[in-house]
Amino acid sequence: MLQSANSNLASSKRLDIAFQQCINPACAATYEARSVRTSCDRCGDLLDILYEWDRAEVPKQMNEFEAMWGRRYDPVRFSGVWRFHELLPFCGQDEIVTVGEGQTLLQQTDSVGKFVGMNAGKLHLQYEGMNPSGSFKDNGMCAAFTHACMMNAKRAACASTGNTSASLALYCSATKKMKAVIFIGSGKISYGKLSQALDYGALTVQIAGDFDDAMIRVKQISDELGIYLVNSVNPFRLEGQKTIMFRIMEALRWEIPDWIVVPGGNLGNSSAFGKAFAELKQLGLIDRIPRLAVINARGADTLYELFERRGVRWNGGQVDMDPIRQYYDELDRTGAKADTIASAIEINRPVNLKKCLRALEGMDGVVRQVSDQEILDAKAQVGAGGFGCEPASAASVAGAKMLRREGVIAPSDRVVCVLTGHELKDPTATVAYHSADQEMFNKVLGSRGVKKASHANRAIAVPNELDDIIKAIQLYS
Ligand code: F0G
Repeated sequence: MLQSANSNLASSKRLDIAFQQCINPACAATYEARSVRTSCDRCGDLLDILYEWDRAEVPKQMNEFEAMWGRRYDPVRFSGVWRFHELLPFCGQDEIVTVGEGQTLLQQTDSVGKFVGMNAGKLHLQYEGMNPSGSFKDNGMCAAFTHACMMNAKRAACASTGNTSASLALYCSATKKMKAVIFIGSGKISYGKLSQALDYGALTVQIAGDFDDAMIRVKQISDELGIYLVNSVNPFRLEGQKTIMFRIMEALRWEIPDWIVVPGGNLGNSSAFGKAFAELKQLGLIDRIPRLAVINARGADTLYELFERRGVRWNGGQVDMDPIRQYYDELDRTGAKADTIASAIEINRPVNLKKCLRALEGMDGVVRQVSDQEILDAKAQVGAGGFGCEPASAASVAGAKMLRREGVIAPSDRVVCVLTGHELKDPTATVAYHSADQEMFNKVLGSRGVKKASHANRAIAVPNELDDIIKAIQLYS
């Protein structure tokens, strides 16, 4: 029974120590945690979930969380997210909703490490595709979904490039607590992800436009119809996503890596990771913060453009909005649309831009952009040396390789690349890369500037004759 928390955990244990606060230090308006909003009423900026830590029951050391695993008969502690409830204490234990998310894996791999240019033992891959809906989104969805239930929501909505929608749809189908309404752009979602939303029974609205268009619409519609919004503008999502960092530390026996490398789309993950480490430091649970590398796809590189080329910084919360507005105006004027094989991160207007700038400041971060060719080559290496991932996830490995080549990452650094989505999410890209069928390669990849598949593992065609089959196996194995 993994659908709702053990109600024996008394609600008297519920401590209301959480509140929402505007991220703009010049505003800093606060709101109750038990209220639904995705932006500040006063200035429109993003919101954080903050805690009165002095009233919280926080372990003195991270390794105290190991004891929670011993209580895995309790769905709350079985969850790789709620095992760390003390570090996201916005709800009572009796309010928690879980489907068993967060049973993910940190793999140390020397074959991918060699491809990246690392010394032996130094490259780790964090497989978030092992979550119930096949992507990291379940980490955040269980937190937002829990809050939605606390608020008695009957419907929840999101715009999605596919994984958020699959995750929301799964929480709705598995718990029967509300109805999922999902918005997707036309022709912009891989079949693996679309099939999940359809199978799980979500109301699926395909609008004539891309993700950025769908995001604008879903905000309007949620406001208009009073539907609970679960995109990562929802600050509770990011609370759940902090736990990816906790699990990485757990797998490293509470040591801190030197680098966290993550693909950047709507920038929820990178924002959550920055908040996780800032809070652990504030709580005295760690003494050092790793560096952050956020990797954009070249065809969807707003963060790279603004941070690395135009010098936009968090700047203690005084973000200079002029270059951002100017860049978005340029996109509008030229009609530029995001375009990459990594459809999960095909986003030009990341909603968490400011929070990500804050994370980059707190984690001494860098941003890079990688081509579709680099993404697919890195993805083939992950497949050959690990458990595989979807294209967007491989941007982290391609980005680590680039930073290694530049000398920003040293071969002796301990690097963790976060692999955000499961290999089977987007088989079209994988099969096209490995295919000997030139027509298919050109149709799916050639149009995006991918020229060759250097790491392709081609299927061999043989006549249905025993001798020919034996000959082929002997020749190729
Ligand atoms: N990787 C995968 C597999 C994703 O699905 C996403 C985002 C990202 C990376 C980017 O993460 O937004 O936190 O920077 N997918 C969203 C969706 C947009 O709708 O599923 P981010």
